[in-house]
Amino acid sequence: MNENRNSFKGSIGFVLAAAGSAVGLGNIWRFPYLAAKDGGGLFLVIYIVLALTFGFTLLTTEIAIGRKTKQSPLTAYSKLKSKWKPLGIIACIVPMMIFPYYVTIGGWVLKYLLVYITGNGHAAAQDGYFSGFIGQTAEPIIMMLVFTIIVAFIIFRGVNSGIESSSKIIMPLLIVLVLGVSVYSLTISYTDIDGTTRTGLQGLGAYVIPNMKGITVKQFCTVLMDAMGQLFYSLSVAMGIMIAYGSYVSDDANLGKSINQIELFDTIVAFLAGVMIIPAVFVFMGRDGMTASGPSLMFVSLPKVFDSMGFAGNVIGAIFFAMVFFAALTSAVSIMELLFQALWMNLS
Ligand code: ALA
Repeated sequence: MNENRNSFKGSIGFVLAAAGSAVGLGNIWRFPYLAAKDGGGLFLVIYIVLALTFGFTLLTTEIAIGRKTKQSPLTAYSKLKSKWKPLGIIACIVPMMIFPYYVTIGGWVLKYLLVYITGNGHAAAQDGYFSGFIGQTAEPIIMMLVFTIIVAFIIFRGVNSGIESSSKIIMPLLIVLVLGVSVYSLTISYTDIDGTTRTGLQGLGAYVIPNMKGITVKQFCTVLMDAMGQLFYSLSVAMGIMIAYGSYVSDDANLGKSINQIELFDTIVAFLAGVMIIPAVFVFMGRDGMTASGPSLMFVSLPKVFDSMGFAGNVIGAIFFAMVFFAALTSAVSIMELLFQALWMNLS
């Protein structure tokens, strides 16, 4: 970002930049694993209700604050009301906390991208591969550092505009690919050693149909908190990012329409990532596997889906992880850039 305010040429530039920040690991890695952990349907319903209410309101508020004040998040709140200064500080602390964790997962994606590019997708599908990788001392750290250096390079070389224009091609491609793998996931089936056959369509049912049987208030609250946390993470709200982007939007842009587009795109990618991953976990690992997999879900179950495709699986896996890598990169750039913007523009 630069000092030249109103730098988005039109609402498309703004929607792409904001969607590039919003769509990332949150949608493709975090959403499916939380939905699976919380048993599927209930999480999905709560998330969608929250997205249509809180999500829309928060996104609108942050972008409107940015557009009105034309300030960075650190000073935007105090410009509205001097007592609100601490909110600006908190808005900049949140991305500081998220960034190290984001680049760690970004490093995992980079590792899997390299695995598929080098034709080792079959090895990645074996039990224990992922835990073997993250159990090492050096490799996950090296991958994280490489990912961080790429993010920093993009910012320092000012190649963001290139990233924004490539988003026009890569983001729709990501949707097509996710859609294609989702359809494939629904066609697979697997028979256990005890003779139980599970199908992708049954897995889809486990993902979308809320199962309220025997649910306790405590469990319901856990799902609610997971969905709420996911909403903030996925829409890049309460991180200052949307205030910063809003500060570059012209006063006559149609905010409501742009915000609808950003939210719709973000939610569709998250939902489809769930369709791509959760039925596959259900097929290969059953309902217990769904709830037990946690953050490793994308790195353990998807390689099995790609492996079941034969040779094509390696190619599709490589394309898939390349796109996730790109989506993670655009989000990480927005987080790091926000930190630099706050530090340089306001503390110097
Ligand atoms: N909103 C970004 C993501 O979901 C941080 O990955």
